[in-house]
Amino acid sequence: MNLILLGPPGAGKGTQAKRIEESRGLVQLSTGDMLRAAVAAGTEIGKRAKEVMERGELVSDDIVIGIISERIDQPDCARGFILDGFPRTLAQAAALDDLLAAKGRTLDVVIEMKVDDEALIERITGRFTCAECGEGYHDTFKRPQVEGKCDKCGSTEFSRRADDNAETVRARLMAYYRETAPLIGYYFCKGTLRSIDGMADIDDVTRQIEEVLTDIARAA
Ligand code: AP5
Repeated sequence: MNLILLGPPGAGKGTQAKRIEESRGLVQLSTGDMLRAAVAAGTEIGKRAKEVMERGELVSDDIVIGIISERIDQPDCARGFILDGFPRTLAQAAALDDLLAAKGRTLDVVIEMKVDDEALIERITGRFTCAECGEGYHDTFKRPQVEGKCDKCGSTEFSRRADDNAETVRARLMAYYRETAPLIGYYFCKGTLRSIDGMADIDDVTRQIEEVLTDIARAA
């Protein structure tokens, strides 16, 4: 099964993608994570992306389309993948259609996560992750069970993203409404869109997504 999690910054795409990855054996493909890895490694793509990401703007379509096209060809994607943060523009969506068709693959469902804007800002500015294994946490909504220690790997090192500040979040939201929100209509017209309530608590959002995926698998 191949799916897209579609929603604004902080909607919970990454949180839920990791859960679906575990429950369904699909691979999470996060263009944000891939770009941050390129920035950290100082590659040519990373150098081009760094300042754009810090401003909260979108990296150019050709870069992210190239990254995804190569990644989908890796053997671990054969069972299916979860696109998290891609596509983000109509040009990226059209390119995805073309490259899936060329590879003889299909897109099964696009899950739109609906969230209030004020909640997004609170979610993003409170987010932190384990520096060792990448497990995600939140100052209010998801603290480690033992304070200062990662639930998953036990590390005591945590980090916060450079673009997770109140000012950049507004720029990211602006980019979402200008460039990405039109994809809701695009996928609705294609008949692949399903919408869920992303304001529910994390477990409930997982339940809603699992229901959609079970439905889609049954209809296939
Ligand atoms: P990217 O890394 O994709 O960031 P984003 O879209 O802004 O999304 P986030 O990772 O911030 O949010 P999320 O929806 O994954 O939320 P999360 O689960 O972490 O992109 C970063 C940048 O890279 C972009 O700005 C752009 O420059 C560039 N880029 C990436 N892809 C690109 C593309 N295709 N084209 C061009 N440029 C691209 O949750 C957030 C917090 O809320 C967490 O702390 C979590 O614990 C908490 N939380 C989650 N769910 C809930 C819930 N239900 N209730 C309460 N709290 C919750």
